[in-house]
Amino acid sequence: ILGTVRPRPDPWWRGERERLLALAADGTPRYVYHLPTVRTRARQLLGVESVDRRYYAIKANPHPAILRALVAEGFGLECVSLAEVGHVFASVPGLDPARVLFTPSFAPVDEYAGAFERGVTVTVDNCELLQRWPDVFRGRGVWLRIDLGFGDGHHEKVTTGGKASKFGLAASRVEEFEALARALDVRITGLHAHLGSGVETREHWREMVDAMAGFARRIGTVEVLDIGGGLPVPYAADDEPFDLEDWGAGLADVRKVHPGFELAIEPGRFLVAEAGVLLARCSQVVEKDGVHRVGLDAGMNALIRPALYDAWHDIVNLDRIGDGQLRDFDVVGPICESSDVFGRRVKLPAATAPGDAMLVADTGAYGHVMASTYNLRSLPVEDIIE
Ligand code: LLP
Repeated sequence: ILGTVRPRPDPWWRGERERLLALAADGTPRYVYHLPTVRTRARQLLGVESVDRRYYAIKANPHPAILRALVAEGFGLECVSLAEVGHVFASVPGLDPARVLFTPSFAPVDEYAGAFERGVTVTVDNCELLQRWPDVFRGRGVWLRIDLGFGDGHHEKVTTGGKASKFGLAASRVEEFEALARALDVRITGLHAHLGSGVETREHWREMVDAMAGFARRIGTVEVLDIGGGLPVPYAADDEPFDLEDWGAGLADVRKVHPGFELAIEPGRFLVAEAGVLLARCSQVVEKDGVHRVGLDAGMNALIRPALYDAWHDIVNLDRIGDGQLRDFDVVGPICESSDVFGRRVKLPAATAPGDAMLVADTGAYGHVMASTYNLRSLPVEDIIE
């Protein structure tokens, strides 16, 4: 959460300043999502021809308008709870269950049964489920999530592969799973892995396909390799934008080596992070021991990413864009925790004053959906720009 200096090139919200100021006047904190940006990202992914199936990981932002926009673009939806499964059917009229994945982790077994009833594709990631509740799984087709033994991501808290992670069947137990599945007439039609979020390593997904194809060939019934999400976005000015072309070319290469499978992805962040902003209002400006602080009426309850992952989000004073005289501020919220800091040494107009409308950028993913009412602060409202 340490400051960067270079300004970002032309985010959508620069052109929507008047509209955002009007929304902020209706009350803060509030999230605003820009659907044209979601569609642009969706179409960029649709242009990657080495991918056959695209599912949106709705955990990143389950706003119904976003779900409808992405389904209209041809995306399926990936859900991690039965509540998310219910939510997608309630939000998207006429949604085909064949376009919905259920990828739970340690969920109560009732959720698996409920998802089978809905007709969605269920991913299983351990032997114990089949051993303990054979009747829930008997005769079903499932996808199998494996832990390929390595993980990656922007923070250790979002790394979902390797020994320390709770996700996925250990590679050493795949044969045991196959035997259990055979005994229950369970057919393994897909292999799934998701090894981290905000992954900067270009080769990551290619290596996944390489590792998964070996298992898939042995199992013999696998039609789809799902390599998860994890595509990064540039949060800070000096972050490199993700090179989709290079990524797609890498996948095309590895598919030549391992033909015969459909390739699926399930990105969340990439589709929605840059489409969202959090609007807040400056509450107080205070100097203490040489540190100048800008307080916002939104805190870690509204956006937990900086507190939880030391994540960087650009912060802008919407009322004073273009002010030349800047000062380093720590930007903090009203919550009674020392981790209630959005950014340290953020360059903001020196004149920043209580009442100014402030914008926290790139908060469309894992923003509102992770918000809480801690300190009995209200959840931020959400607006859509069509
Ligand atoms: N598929 C599965 C099975 C997942 O667990 C996740 C994210 C995704 C897809 C989508 O990953 P993405 O493309 O968004 O990286 N709250 C954290 C991120 C947690 C991600 C959890 N799983 C953050 O704010 O960085």
